[in-house]
Amino acid sequence: MSDTTYYLTTPLYYVNAPPHLGHAYTTVIADVLARYHRLRGQPVFFLTGTDEHGQKIQQAAAAAGKPPQQFADEIVPNFSALWTALNISYDDFIRTTEPRHTTGVQAALVQLLASGDIYLGTYEGWYCVPDETFWPNVTATPGQAPVCPECRRPVERISEKNYFFRLEKYRPWLRQHIQAYETFIQPTSRRNEVLAFLHRPLQDLCISRPTARLSWGIPMPSPPFEPGYVTYVWFDALLNYVTAVGYPDTKHARWPSWPANLHLIGKDILRPHAVYWPIMLHALGLPLPTTVAVHGWWLIEGEKMSKSRGNVVDPHAVIAEFGVDAYRYFLLREVPFGHDGTFSEQALEKRYTADLANDLGNLVYRVLTMLEKYFSGIVPNAQPRRGIALPAYEEPEEDFLPGLGTGVHLSKAFDAYNFQFALTILWACIDQGNAWIDQKKPWVLAKGDEVAMQELTRVLARLLEFLRALAVWLWPFMPTTSEKMWEQLGCPGNITDVRWSEAWKAGATAGQTIQKGLPLFPRREPTPTA
Ligand code: MSP
Repeated sequence: MSDTTYYLTTPLYYVNAPPHLGHAYTTVIADVLARYHRLRGQPVFFLTGTDEHGQKIQQAAAAAGKPPQQFADEIVPNFSALWTALNISYDDFIRTTEPRHTTGVQAALVQLLASGDIYLGTYEGWYCVPDETFWPNVTATPGQAPVCPECRRPVERISEKNYFFRLEKYRPWLRQHIQAYETFIQPTSRRNEVLAFLHRPLQDLCISRPTARLSWGIPMPSPPFEPGYVTYVWFDALLNYVTAVGYPDTKHARWPSWPANLHLIGKDILRPHAVYWPIMLHALGLPLPTTVAVHGWWLIEGEKMSKSRGNVVDPHAVIAEFGVDAYRYFLLREVPFGHDGTFSEQALEKRYTADLANDLGNLVYRVLTMLEKYFSGIVPNAQPRRGIALPAYEEPEEDFLPGLGTGVHLSKAFDAYNFQFALTILWACIDQGNAWIDQKKPWVLAKGDEVAMQELTRVLARLLEFLRALAVWLWPFMPTTSEKMWEQLGCPGNITDVRWSEAWKAGATAGQTIQKGLPLFPRREPTPTA
């Protein structure tokens, strides 16, 4: 079914409130990967969107005194505006209230009822409203109201007739699949968590809500379903990954992109993606995505950043203060993929000054300044010409390491979702560039004899080649900065026309006229202390 398109998704974000740093994080990671694959010359389909049904949204809308659809319509532009501010290059934005989605969900429901994978039963137990999760057994502390085992908020006791989706029937198959495909759930710690969970029998999933209790959802089509039910929000939302590519219409132009290569998610939504979703797909007779990659949380003072905890950091404020690329860089550099991280403006400030202004910004600025000074801004050609013997001064190329091999190491890091390592590699190269300048002392060479001038030529030509490659390698992370670098280096055409494998190319910059501009990361005024 699948064509060669790299199809990747973010979760669909709840529209109960505008987006915060946690949502920005998943989406920036997806964007970095999308850009990386595009540079590799692969067609990419990058899907994001919003999850608009369910009790959480109905309650938020009621609190705002608005009908849920109007409430959602007013929140959604906050997401698209943030994605624009963050330079997110998504290809499609799906809303679960769109007809293309609701009709797909209804088709899946009808198919699964007909195949016997959905059945009518009675649910008895606890229910967590904010998480929309049933908890058949909750152990309460004596004298205290029972709370949700996951989010620790109070749960309600309910008993009602509902539709259920068979999970237990498929448990042995799912375990086998996860065991057979080592990279299906990444990182390994999350894979082990799911395998441990699948060790014990699964409760079938309650996938309906009586409209008497919840009206804001996709109606379960009646017939064949009994009247008066809407679809559980998770069952509805997960299906977006196939409705966006046309399900159930397998003739849809996008359908060949299924299965997705990657679902990017946070650790709080592992179970729906690693248990419910594969079973839903299998029951529908559809192939499974290649990988579900799971990241950690951004914490504030040890607590998950979330609207309900009231500790959110507004991404727009941080972007206004530090710029979009510093923000993107920080999110991926500060914390290894899969781990939790703590957000603080001080940590971002430190990275801005040390890594961006001092290391990267300074390297670009000083190289371009020397090029202006010693070569009138025209990049010299240091390639040995064919047939001409190398002069005796020529040192082995290895005295400056970043080159073809760097791109290979970076690719491995991207393929392993090890973005922090990719940036560590790049900053090791940047450090090496700065150290090489200090060691070679072009300002001394410039005053020397002909041999020294040849060495000066070689040093600056090599540095320019490296900066060109660096612009390409950095593009997935910091597209605006890379494009500025491209322009300042005087490189022709668009950076996006360069292929990853050709990022580093000996002599690629020879003859270019640079256009030195302002420093890429201007020094920031120290924040006044009260
Ligand atoms: N609507 C569901 C997902 C349905 S997917 C078919 C949902 N939405 S959410 O808005 O609550 O969260 C979406 C994503 O944001 C999740 O991947 C979640 O992990 C991520 N984050 C929300 N807060 C976060 C942090 N504080 N830190 C990092 N990411 C977190 O769940």
